[in-house]
Amino acid sequence: MKKNLCSISFTINGKLCERTIPASYLLIDLIRDELRLKGTKPGCLEGECGSCSVLVDGAVINSCLYLALNVDGKSVTTVEGLSGGEQSLDAVQQSMVEHGAVQCGYCTSGMVMAIKSFQDQCHKDNHKPDREEIKKGLEGNICRCTGYVKIIDAVESLF
Ligand code: FES
Ligand code: FES
Repeated sequence: MKKNLCSISFTINGKLCERTIPASYLLIDLIRDELRLKGTKPGCLEGECGSCSVLVDGAVINSCLYLALNVDGKSVTTVEGLSGGEQSLDAVQQSMVEHGAVQCGYCTSGMVMAIKSFQDQCHKDNHKPDREEIKKGLEGNICRCTGYVKIIDAVESLF
């Protein structure tokens, strides 16, 4: 094997995946270009906007800054893995729809993944967050359209 290639084995949305990739390959490129999961959106590509957010072992990360080789042995969840298929929505997605928290939608998949991680952590801690804590929890994700109020309403309704 060439020196700059590495083999990784991980699960993505519950399915085992094995690939040989360049060591410098970014997770967003593996997800979108190799695995053809286009729900994860490229934005700033500098770790500032959160549109590329996915979960790795349940923690939200910016896939534009994360080397794909680091998912070896781990579990990756993208927005496609949240719901039970095209006909059903996760509770976070449902709440976003019900509260009108989606406009152009470009930030939405990353926002949903960040909310999912925040929600899971709050449930683990048996904690009901207030609006300030919700804002703090989502500070890594930028939305240019909604003004955030409806997104925060959507998150608040989950608890
Ligand atoms: S595209 Fe990754 S943080 Fe903006
Ligand atoms: S809905 Fe357009 S950027 Fe958030």
